[in-house]
Amino acid sequence: MALSLHLHHRLPLALLLVVLVAASHGVPTSGDSYDPSLCLKPQLCGSVNISYPFYLSDDTGVLLGNSSSYCGYPGLGIKCDGGNQAVLELGGEKYIISSINNTGGLTVTVVDHEVDEEACPKIDHNVTLPRWLKIPDGTVEYIVFFLDCNFGTEFTGQKPDTNSSITCPNFMSLGPRMSFVFLWEDVPYRDTNWWQGRCQVFQVPVLKDRLGQGDPQDDPGWKKGGFRNTLLAGFPLAWDYQKPLACEQCEGTKGQCGYNQTGQFVACLCSGGRVGDHNNCTAATPGKPLSKLVVLVLPNCSGDYWLL
Ligand SMILES: *[C@@H]1O[C@H](CO)[C@@H](O)[C@H](O)[C@H]1NC(C)=O
Ligand SMILES: *[C@@H]1O[C@H](CO)[C@@H](O)[C@H](O)[C@H]1NC(C)=O
Ligand SMILES: *[C@@H]1O[C@H](CO)[C@@H](O)[C@H](O)[C@H]1NC(C)=O
Ligand SMILES: *[C@@H]1O[C@H](CO)[C@@H](O)[C@H](O)[C@H]1NC(C)=O
Ligand SMILES: *[C@@H]1O[C@H](CO)[C@@H](O)[C@H](O)[C@H]1NC(C)=O
Ligand SMILES: *[C@@H]1O[C@H](CO)[C@@H](O)[C@H](O)[C@H]1NC(C)=O
Ligand SMILES: *[C@@H]1O[C@H](CO)[C@@H](O)[C@H](O)[C@H]1NC(C)=O
Ligand SMILES: *[C@@H]1O[C@H](CO)[C@@H](O)[C@H](O)[C@H]1NC(C)=O
Repeated sequence: MALSLHLHHRLPLALLLVVLVAASHGVPTSGDSYDPSLCLKPQLCGSVNISYPFYLSDDTGVLLGNSSSYCGYPGLGIKCDGGNQAVLELGGEKYIISSINNTGGLTVTVVDHEVDEEACPKIDHNVTLPRWLKIPDGTVEYIVFFLDCNFGTEFTGQKPDTNSSITCPNFMSLGPRMSFVFLWEDVPYRDTNWWQGRCQVFQVPVLKDRLGQGDPQDDPGWKKGGFRNTLLAGFPLAWDYQKPLACEQCEGTKGQCGYNQTGQFVACLCSGGRVGDHNNCTAATPGKPLSKLVVLVLPNCSGDYWLL
């Protein structure tokens, strides 16, 4: 609607003013947007249903200039290996997700990939947790691996019976070395720390309430790989982090929280690829561009005013 007034006024300085006023009543907004494919629809990976605030760890993108950001909570990025195995990576090690529980709190139960892949799994790493994940108190026991123990002839202290060492072929090593695996509470001569400087020690959490009834010490199959059954129960990891207020408010208005690579909240992601102003997805969608005032001053022309 170009209202055009053609006024002929002669001014001493002979100016031509072109004044463009495009007034609009839109809500003031930054109008930022994001690639909506960043926020995934719930989807199955094998039997695991992945949905916000979990996210696919490959689904990252730029959010307000923050590269490698994602739509979900820090620590909850999942890889769907081979399209059917949901994997959480912790400290560079793969853990296979056996279940996700997001009622009440956010908990995933995971199993070390070695347990999944080997008949007699040799776990040679401790669990490394990012600061957003915790093992819920009181839910696990530890299975402890003592690998490649070298007692030598000078060792006169008390140590486990040689006949309790692991007999799986993949644990055998050159020289007079032995490996053992015990529930922590069953470790013989615990107070003497016989393993110090002699073995590599790694511990693996296992769900307490999934430990078998029988005592591994009475189970002749345990040292031949029977411990794998216990490890298969996996262990729980809970998201244990204080959500920033901005994220709370965002979710309260049906938005989803976008975080960056260092785990800081970056933006409130609303439907349709819109970034919520003030971390609020309820606010009206932006209207026309904001009021623009363009004044062109062209001196010494005919002295006509054009008001469009
Ligand atoms: C996956 O979870 C979402 C959100 O909790 C739910 O709406 C959907 O029905 C689930 N899908 C399957 C296949 O279980
Ligand atoms: C990351 O996003 C925040 C907004 O939450 C912004 O202030 C900051 O400049 C961005 N950082 C980079 C590196 O672009
Ligand atoms: C993550 O966001 C915070 C806050 O906006 C910012 O200070 C930090 O530089 C960002 N980190 C990266 C890697 O973008
Ligand atoms: C999921 O977690 C809630 C709360 O911690 C618990 O009550 C419920 O039994 C769990 N569901 C499953 C299937 O484990
Ligand atoms: C190991 O041998 C000792 C006797 O030397 C025996 O008492 C013990 O039961 C054996 N342990 C296992 C696990 O076979
Ligand atoms: C693994 O954890 C155990 C128990 O905390 C510890 O004694 C051992 O040194 C750790 N191993 C490594 C390589 O950090
Ligand atoms: C979000 O914006 C709407 C509309 O401006 C407002 O009514 C509502 O109170 C805001 N919600 C929050 C949590 O700020
Ligand atoms: C504009 O007009 C004034 C006198 O009317 C003159 O002094 C000035 O040089 C002119 N400027 C230009 C850009 O033509």
